[in-house]
Amino acid sequence: MKTVPSKWARRQPPFRVMEVLKRARELEREGRRVIHFEVGEPDFPTASVIVEAGKRALDDGHTGYTEALGIPELRNAIADDYRSRFGINIESSRIAVTSGASGALNLLFSVLLNPGDQVLMSDPGYPCNEAFVRLVGGEPIRMPVDQRTGYQPTVELVKEDWTADTVGVILATPSNPTGAMIQTAQLEAINDFVVERQGFVMVDEIYQGLVYEPDMDEVATSSLAIDPGLIVVNSFSKYFGMTGWRLGWCVVPDLLIEALERAAQNLYIAPSIVAQYAALAAYSREGFGVSEERRLRFQRRRDLMYEGLLDAGLEVPLKARGACYLYANVSSSGIDAETFSARLIEEYQVAVTPGTDFGSYRAQDHVRFAYTANEQDIRRGVEQVGHAVRRFQNEV
Ligand SMILES: Cc1ncc(COP(=O)(O)O)c(C=O)c1O
Repeated sequence: MKTVPSKWARRQPPFRVMEVLKRARELEREGRRVIHFEVGEPDFPTASVIVEAGKRALDDGHTGYTEALGIPELRNAIADDYRSRFGINIESSRIAVTSGASGALNLLFSVLLNPGDQVLMSDPGYPCNEAFVRLVGGEPIRMPVDQRTGYQPTVELVKEDWTADTVGVILATPSNPTGAMIQTAQLEAINDFVVERQGFVMVDEIYQGLVYEPDMDEVATSSLAIDPGLIVVNSFSKYFGMTGWRLGWCVVPDLLIEALERAAQNLYIAPSIVAQYAALAAYSREGFGVSEERRLRFQRRRDLMYEGLLDAGLEVPLKARGACYLYANVSSSGIDAETFSARLIEEYQVAVTPGTDFGSYRAQDHVRFAYTANEQDIRRGVEQVGHAVRRFQNEV
C-alpha cells in the first residue's frame, strides 16, 4: 500500500492563517477571548433573504445535481447583473458557476496549462494560486510588488518576467493581502502585451463590490469593461457574504467554455444546487440592500483600523480602497512578522496573519490585518497591538 504523499502534496506549505486560527480556537476553548483579525471571512451571517431562498430550495426538492456549468437561471442572473450594474454585455453562455472562486481557479488552470508552463502572479498575493498551478505541472512565477508599484504588478514587471515558457498572468483587484486596486492604464498595458504573445490574462475579482471611494483611474467595476475577452473569476463569498455556501463563477472566452464544462463534469460534477438557488436571491433588491449596508460598515471598520494601527506605531503603506485587509509593516517593532504574529496571539490574544503566508518578498516585515471583526473588537484589538509594539520595542 502506498501511503507516501505525492511530491505536490509534500511541497504544499501550510496555510499559516489556518494555523493561527487553530491556536485561536484552542485559546477560546480554554476560556480566553480572542480578537480575530486573521480570517478573510466577513463576520456577518449570510443575508436572511438568501438563507430563506436556500431553505425554500430544499423544501422544493432541489437536492440533486445540476448542469456542470450551473443552473441557467443563475448564469442569466449573473449576466444581467453585469449589464445592469456595470453596463457590460456578457453572454450567459460564457459564464460558468463553480464551487467558489477556488473551484473556478482550479478548473481554469487545469484547462489552460500544460506541464512546464509558467504563470506570473504577484508577491505578496493569494497563496493558493501557486497550488492550483503546480497541481497541473505548471510553474508559478512571483512578481515582487510594493509601494512603488501600488502593490499591483506593472507592465514593466510582466515584461521583465515573461519568458518563452510563460503562458499567462493572474491578477487580483482588489487584492489579497493588500487590498490594492489595479490602475486601468496598467491593466490595459499588461493585457496588450500578453494578448500580443497569445497568453491569457486572468483577473480575480472576488472582492468586487467591497470597494470604498476608488480613484477614477482604478478599475472600480469589472476588468471586463476594459476587454470583454479577459478571463474573470468571482465569488459569492465576500460581497454577498456566502463563504460557507461554496459558490463562485468565472467568465471565459467562448473558445474555453466547452473545455471548462468537461473539466467541471469530471472534477466535481456540479456546484451545490442549494447554494445556486439561494444565490439567486442575492440579486434581489433586498439582497443588494444588505450587501451595500455591509460595505459601508466595512468602510467604517477600515478607517477605524487604519487610524488604530498608525496610533499603535505601525506603518500602513496603503490605505487600501478595496477588500477587507490592511497590510502593515511591523518592522518598527524590532521582530519579524512570524514572531510578531505568534507573540500577538499568545500574549495579547489578537490573531493576525504573517506576510509569509502570501509570498516571500519582504514578507517578514509585514502582517495582514483583516477588518472582518466588529468595531468594538477593532478598537480593543488595535489598542492591544499598540501595547504589544511598545513591549517588543523595549525588549530590543
Ligand atoms: C483573492 C482570493 N481568491 C480566491 C479566494 C477563494 O474564495 P472562495 O473559494 O471562497 O470563493 C479567496 C479567499 O479568500 C481570495 O482571497
